[in-house]
Amino acid sequence: ERPKILVTQRVPDVAYPPLETIGEVEANMEEGLIWPYEELLRRGPGHDYIFCLLTDQIDARFLEACASATPRLKMVANMAVGYNNIDVEAATRLGIAVSNTPGVLSDTTADLAFGLLIAVARRIPEAERFVRAGKFKGWGPLLFCGADVHHATLGLIGAGRIGKIVAKRASGFEMRVLYYDVYRLPPEEEATYHLTYAPLDELLRESDFVSIHTPYLPSTHHLIGERELSLMKPTAYLINTSRGPVIDEKALVRALQAKQIAGAGLDVYEHEPAIEPELLTMDNVVLLPHIASASYATRNQMALMASNNIVAYHEGRRPPNLVNPEVLG
Ligand code: GLV
Ligand code: GLV
Repeated sequence: ERPKILVTQRVPDVAYPPLETIGEVEANMEEGLIWPYEELLRRGPGHDYIFCLLTDQIDARFLEACASATPRLKMVANMAVGYNNIDVEAATRLGIAVSNTPGVLSDTTADLAFGLLIAVARRIPEAERFVRAGKFKGWGPLLFCGADVHHATLGLIGAGRIGKIVAKRASGFEMRVLYYDVYRLPPEEEATYHLTYAPLDELLRESDFVSIHTPYLPSTHHLIGERELSLMKPTAYLINTSRGPVIDEKALVRALQAKQIAGAGLDVYEHEPAIEPELLTMDNVVLLPHIASASYATRNQMALMASNNIVAYHEGRRPPNLVNPEVLG
């Protein structure tokens, strides 16, 4: 019997052929349409495999419904490196495998983190709005002065795959790079990436730019809150391309209003897609719609990787990107 496969959103074309080769694919083909939770809950049960996105809430209730249906759900393949949208504990308890797409998006995400950093420091979006508004009347000695990126100190919170590549980008700008992580890197890796370990508070006090590259976990919820923001320099910028709730967004608004920090570059939000409304009015904040991994090549790779995990499971091979390998013993 061919397996039933659900693809919850319109994804890059390369994702479909491998799935169609092994099974019957039911897919939401309407670009930009995210099924509300109730609809997902109605459509999900009765599939062997679900290809999902980070905007799908794959919680215990959903997984239990899928585990008690026929066919029983075997795996959810998330087309994202982050999988905080999935209750992995519940999946593991129910014997449902979960996979993600690590590695293929690290360079692309690091590029955008760096772009956001430069954009906010050099006021690029603000200056561009000025030009489009017809306000450019000639070169000015004071016009849109910002902060230097080169030779500044960059503090990375999280030095996993993405954080390390941001460090590589930073070395071209001759930045001094500090990092904080719960895992201290081996000395050889610190040397390779020119990274200096610092406790979080020290990193916050010393950095001109703080860029976040941690997963979202209970332990990283509001990792950057009022206290942490108060430690940053008034000239420093906060960059986030990881997950919104790592920052207490209301505390960030207060810190920006009080000029405790100079600005922020955000690709992700605490209550996505909602954004604290004050942020939308601030010129020293650059706001992007969660696009850090959005290059054509990378999104194709992520899509193919998610499909390949499903194909591997179906063919009795070990899916290469399992986040709960214990389900397969
Ligand atoms: C995007 O945010 C991802 O986790 O891949
Ligand atoms: C994600 O890929 C990370 O480890 O930073």
